Amino acid sequence: MKILVVMGSPRKGNTYRAVRKIEEVMRSMGDVEFEYLMLKDVNLSHCCGCFSCFEKGEEYCPFKDDAYLIEQKMHDADGVIFATPVYGMGVSAQMKTFIDRLSYIFHRPRFFDKKALLLSTAGAGGLKDVLDHMQVVAGMWGFEVVQKVGIIAPPIPQSKRKKLAEEQKLRKAAVIFYDSLLKKRRRSPSFREVIVFRVQKTSYGELAETLPADHAYWKEHGWLRTQAKYYVDVPVNPLYNAVGWTVEQILRRKIRKDKADAQK
Ligand SMILES: Cc1cc2nc3c(=O)[nH]c(=O)nc-3n(C[C@H](O)[C@H](O)[C@H](O)COP(=O)(O)O)c2cc1C
Repeated sequence: MKILVVMGSPRKGNTYRAVRKIEEVMRSMGDVEFEYLMLKDVNLSHCCGCFSCFEKGEEYCPFKDDAYLIEQKMHDADGVIFATPVYGMGVSAQMKTFIDRLSYIFHRPRFFDKKALLLSTAGAGGLKDVLDHMQVVAGMWGFEVVQKVGIIAPPIPQSKRKKLAEEQKLRKAAVIFYDSLLKKRRRSPSFREVIVFRVQKTSYGELAETLPADHAYWKEHGWLRTQAKYYVDVPVNPLYNAVGWTVEQILRRKIRKDKADAQK
């Protein structure tokens, strides 16, 4: 199996070492290939906020840099490890630029056959916020997020017991991630995921003039069909589906009313 590591740290420090530990465990379990994509080394400009990718398509991005190549590397992998240190209670600048530049994927998700492991390291705090944020990002891009692992790597010496406990976390995450990659079936979506699907379906279905690229993509994938419940064919909890359907009806009515009001 092929694992791509999207490394948000600007150095080979705590975050890199934590991923290497995961690699070591996974390699001991079977035939695993690791590729490290060090975001500090790629040619990726900051997003300039032109909205071209959202409105017209990613091919209209004014920057001709490594964004396409990076997306392709994720397509070529079976699983992706997104790793970042906590910087200023958020992700690193490198990770943020990566997320911003590939933000069209929030609108046009595509990684439904991929699993993700999220890893962050911090000196003291911010791990939960960073990992929760990364979970929303990877989830909305289509990844099945299998594990989130947060490691405290303080600047002061750590007791042996604490070090061992952190190592144990990495070991456990590696085993769960490896096992998940052997299973091809995707889990059923959460309530939140079902609602996100319905909100996107209604918005992109109704806003063909403002978001033509999104509308075309959703249509092409069959996600605008009345009976479409989710991006992929997996069982959807009937209660979540019923609430999702209701949200869709209410939102559709609201968008149509707003559009009519704007014409007045
Ligand atoms: C610019 C900067 C900002 C940081 N901000 C935080 C922070 O908000 N919370 C925290 O607990 N640690 C913070 N840290 C510490 C790092 O998250 C921690 O040392 C991390 O393990 C570094 O990972 P690395 O060795 O892969 O670079 C910061 C470090 C730097 C350099």
